Amino acid sequence: MHLHKFEKVWLIFGMGSLALFLVILGFAAFWKGTHPQSHIETIDPENVEAHDSFKPENLGLREVADGKYIVNIVASAFNYDFGMDADGKPVKKIRVPKGSTVLFQITSKDVVHGFQVAGTNVNMMVEPGHVSRLETEMKNVGEFTVVCNEYCGIAHHQMFATVEVYE
Ligand code: CUA
Repeated sequence: MHLHKFEKVWLIFGMGSLALFLVILGFAAFWKGTHPQSHIETIDPENVEAHDSFKPENLGLREVADGKYIVNIVASAFNYDFGMDADGKPVKKIRVPKGSTVLFQITSKDVVHGFQVAGTNVNMMVEPGHVSRLETEMKNVGEFTVVCNEYCGIAHHQMFATVEVYE
């Protein structure tokens, strides 16, 4: 079979691109741990408190076993509710030791928000009516900013918090 030179070039380019994109996809999925959050559970966005995980007293960070944590968060315009600290002030920063496994569970009371812990593989879309879950291992020490990466209104840029991973 005779192939024109340009046809060969184009075929090599096409197959090369495919291979390259598969490598990038594999790197993101298996090395960086990027994958979609679970979205199998539904919830009434008008009454998120009816769900055990989102009762006001259950919000925020909780250690469930040695080195295992759960963080429950309710997102709303324009705030992440991590519960209250001992002084009755809203929690804006959570701290976990390096190497711990953290399950983030988050839902929205109003519109679609984002929940990205910049610099880690935690990046979820938060939809009203659904519980978004993602479990991750905090491998690196540092302060990571939580940002809302879905435009949710006029004060979208005010939605942030901090996750600190300490040695
Ligand atoms: Cu919430 Cu943007």
